[in-house]
Amino acid sequence: GKRDIDSPPVSSSADYPDLRKHNNCMASALTPAIYGRLRDKTTPYNWTLDQSIQTGVDNPGHPFIKTVGMVAGDEESYEVFADLFDPVIKERHNGYDPRTMKHPTDLDSSKITSGMFDERYVLSSRVRTGRSIRGLSLPPACSRSERREVERVVVQALAGLKGDLAGRYYSLGDMTEHEQQRLIDDHFLFDKPVSPLLTCAGMARLCFFRLDLDTLILRHNNEKNFLVWINEEDHTRVISMEKGGNMKRVFERFCRGLKEVERLIMERGWEFMWNERLGYILTCPSNLGTGLRAGVHIRLPNLGKDPRFSKILENLRLQKRGTGGVDTAAVGDTFDISNLDRLGKSEVELVQLVVDGVNYLIECEKRLERGQDIRIPPPLPQFKK
Ligand SMILES: *[C@@H]1O[C@H](CO)[C@@H](O)[C@H](O)[C@H]1NC(C)=O
Repeated sequence: GKRDIDSPPVSSSADYPDLRKHNNCMASALTPAIYGRLRDKTTPYNWTLDQSIQTGVDNPGHPFIKTVGMVAGDEESYEVFADLFDPVIKERHNGYDPRTMKHPTDLDSSKITSGMFDERYVLSSRVRTGRSIRGLSLPPACSRSERREVERVVVQALAGLKGDLAGRYYSLGDMTEHEQQRLIDDHFLFDKPVSPLLTCAGMARLCFFRLDLDTLILRHNNEKNFLVWINEEDHTRVISMEKGGNMKRVFERFCRGLKEVERLIMERGWEFMWNERLGYILTCPSNLGTGLRAGVHIRLPNLGKDPRFSKILENLRLQKRGTGGVDTAAVGDTFDISNLDRLGKSEVELVQLVVDGVNYLIECEKRLERGQDIRIPPPLPQFKK
């Protein structure tokens, strides 16, 4: 029957989600005891645990990778719900303990060595991250007025980008079919943003929530090699990309553009969400720390078919996706290869890890071409317990 106002509150066990068929980090870490402690807490922005885990309750798993299964609604979510976020972060980030460890930041691209790949194999190179504006809810919790505030703050700041970073904006809500198609052809959009209930799957994301097309903004520079998304999965996504194998140049432009964006935001009295344990704070726990995904599209006709390929990637801390985004399988012999980790290592360390790892893959591919044998490298170590 109906509860009246004087009846006792529903027990947390009656509200506990059914996760028996689930395979994501949230489902592995959640226990009735943790749920009981956190269910009735709220952040200062009134975000709840049930809202944080809804994505992982609705989406039991993913065919290619173990997803995280929860998102933050604001910066404080990571503190208020730390009993659940901390073990999820530790599993997703190779043993990084957010209670005791400190995250390093290093955006000095001059430290990268051997950052030019053999272009017979590497077709394109890309580095991206996200940044959140402190004092506003994160996208899963953002009200329409907050999205407009994010748009206002970021668009004004980016107007200050000069030289090779100068560019133009597209509002996804106002875009013509023709403009959409051009962005898809340029690989900036994976699909037409037709439905207002875009799960981010079509845009290569793992977090599922509503996108508001009117405040979803894409900015690219005139060269189309430096992009900023506003109000997508994160307040901002910053991407540097180009055809070919010059990862060092891509990372140089990434660091320079990102520092400039931060300077322009701070000039207007705003700052990015950041702390020394978690690094840069983003919507999905998988992106904490650097938020950095450095990757290449690479042709590996021999290695791609070799049964040792997955183990080699795993030991190099690399991740394989299809070239159409995280939800796609490999197209023919071309793969999207990127760093698996984001937290506990600096931007420079992660890009160097990708550079060294991809060079190793190319070396293996060349050996297989010549009919020689290849070796599985020893696994890179986990964070010390
Ligand atoms: C949170 O909820 C409380 C109680 O309903 C309300 O008084 C408060 O204004 C809300 N805070 C925010 C930031 O919306």
